[in-house]
This record gives sequence, structure tokens and C-alpha cells, in this order.
Amino acid sequence: MDLYGTADWKTEKHVPVIEIADVIKAGEKTLVTVSVGKEIAHPNKTEHHISWIKLMFWPEDEKYPYQVGLVNFDAHGASIKGPDTSGVYSEPYAVFQLKTDKPGKLIATSYCNIHGFWKYEKEVKVE
Ligand SMILES: [Fe+2]
Repeated sequence: MDLYGTADWKTEKHVPVIEIADVIKAGEKTLVTVSVGKEIAHPNKTEHHISWIKLMFWPEDEKYPYQVGLVNFDAHGASIKGPDTSGVYSEPYAVFQLKTDKPGKLIATSYCNIHGFWKYEKEVKVE
């Protein structure tokens, strides 16, 4: 059993989908969007939700990856009245701005409070 689940994001609602241009320009700011539920919505309830998304970048030929950022999603309907009573929900959607002059791969991970950790990777080419 693997720590991180992986699957096709089009059929598995937990996979954190990375969206970025196929080729980015060296040294220029680039937007990277990471979201869970792009094709199939993941539940967002007090008892079942996505807690966070993390993005890492691992340049080719380097020994260690870098953490780009971590976004927590903290509003899942709970209020002083109980679960799913606030009507306030943070959706699992994050936008990062990345600047690099190195090719490599982006690695996104996410955490569902009852279905564990999920991972997705995407190659980044630089021109
Ligand atoms: Fe889940």
C-alpha cells in the first residue's frame, strides 16, 4: 500500500490537478493552478473535505525538491451550531506564482480528511 494515491484526475476526484503552460520562459513569473475536483467534484462538508494542497518543484539533476507553497482550506461548514451549519466553505483551489530558470517537475499533493494523501506530477520545460 502506497502513502500517496495516484490516478487519472479525470476519473478520481481526489487527485490535485496541476495546470501550467507546457513550456515556460526562464526567469519569468508563471502562474500555476492546483485544484482538486476539476472533473469530478469532491465533497466539501464538515465531515468530508480537502484540508490542504501542497506544491513542490524538483529541478532536473538536483538531489532535493523545493516546496513552492502550502495552502490550507479551513472553512468546511462548521459553526458554533454544529457541522454544516455556517454555509461557509473554502474550495480546494490554489494559484501559485513560480519563477525558475530550470526545467524539472512539479509535484502536487493533497489531503482529504478521510481518504488520505494524493499526488500528481507534471513536467516543466523552460525556454
Ligand atoms: Fe475524500
